[in-house]
Amino acid sequence: MNDLIGRTRAAVWHPCTQMKQLEAAPPLAIARGEGAWLIDVDGRRYFDAISSWWVNLFGHCNPRINAAITDQLGKIEHVMLAGATHAPVVELSERLAKLTGLGHAFYGSDGASATEIALKMSAHYWRNTGQTEKNGFISLQNGYHGETVGALSVTDIPLFKSTYAPLLRHTVQVPTPDARLAEPGESAEAFALRCAEALAAHLAEHASTTAAFIVEPLVQGAAGMAIYHPVYLARARELCDQYGVHLIADEIAVGFGRTGTMFACEQAGIRPDFICLSKGITGGYLPLSAVLTTDDVYAAFYDAAAARGFLHSHSYTGNPLACRAALAVLDIFEHDQVIAANRAKSFEMTKSLSEVVAHPRVRHFRHRGMIWAFDVADAASDFATRFHFAALAQGVFIRPIGNTVYIMPPYVITPAEMTLLAERVLLALNLSLAD
Ligand SMILES: Cc1ncc(COP(=O)(O)O)c(C=O)c1O
Repeated sequence: MNDLIGRTRAAVWHPCTQMKQLEAAPPLAIARGEGAWLIDVDGRRYFDAISSWWVNLFGHCNPRINAAITDQLGKIEHVMLAGATHAPVVELSERLAKLTGLGHAFYGSDGASATEIALKMSAHYWRNTGQTEKNGFISLQNGYHGETVGALSVTDIPLFKSTYAPLLRHTVQVPTPDARLAEPGESAEAFALRCAEALAAHLAEHASTTAAFIVEPLVQGAAGMAIYHPVYLARARELCDQYGVHLIADEIAVGFGRTGTMFACEQAGIRPDFICLSKGITGGYLPLSAVLTTDDVYAAFYDAAAARGFLHSHSYTGNPLACRAALAVLDIFEHDQVIAANRAKSFEMTKSLSEVVAHPRVRHFRHRGMIWAFDVADAASDFATRFHFAALAQGVFIRPIGNTVYIMPPYVITPAEMTLLAERVLLALNLSLAD
């Protein structure tokens, strides 16, 4: 594997990367993984503090997930899901229905395909029920729902969106309840309720042309781990019911325990009309996404006429290997009582970060479940890059979003690793702020 870096630059177009920057900032050349650690071709170890773009839950090369996939490999690797079915997809759909209170799981591959599916299903529902004009979408300011053209239309991150504006559908963004934006003295709850009034005002005028409101529940990840009060979701649910608009919960990043409950919506006591799942669903092993919905939505498609059906597909929909990985993940959640175990880990990790919290340049330290984030005051424009390389030098793989540093480790993090991670984050912070 000589010159992996040179060859990757010549042959691979890396995601979310200005390729020219790889001249000065080469990627890690990873040979293998072990628990929460990535190990490069020279044997150097890096703690995967962001779970490889938030997908890894139970460590790299997890023996239980490996065993499930290996067992499935000896049976059937893939069969198309139109005209065929198989035990892993049926069992996974049954278990996801039990966990979410929704059903009729429709599968895609990545998170963005789940967003596309939910948007299309919602608009198609209204068409099937005779309300063709209800085809508009609302999302939150600074929201992120993926990069394909439909998903980018409801995303609100200028860096990703502006260039493609001419290709995108017009959608409406309502104020984000991001608690950092509350007025001095205003509680996160009061601010969230104030933001919900803007949603109410929009719906009061435009419900007849609106299909759905799509949100990242509790944490807007790509916005820089913007955390908001669950009352916003409860109020959004009431408003969507009042005005006859679907509520789509994009739990692609926050689902599967990330915010401290299996799904973030649980903390608001609500059930959305659609839930989008991906990332952690396979423990970070294989691309898989799923959208589950209500019986009411499903019934509106159930008909003799083909065109009233949901004629959407991806070649790898419901891939058996990915479904087996997902079933192994659900087994681990059950057998290891992961949600309860993470409660203790969440507390310990927060304690470990006390020196970071007290750092004079740290602002808005926040955390929810297995997510921690803070902003750095007066950060230079190249802060994210400086911090990234300072952390790599300490053996930690972490990529700030602008001046926000966040930690989103695999759930298998041990107490010793928490201490080590907190120490190294502090060190990287000081190094990246030094002149
Ligand atoms: C909330 C949310 N929705 C959708 C996506 C898109 O998922 P994918 O990158 O798998 O297409 C992401 C990815 O980060 C996300 O965080």
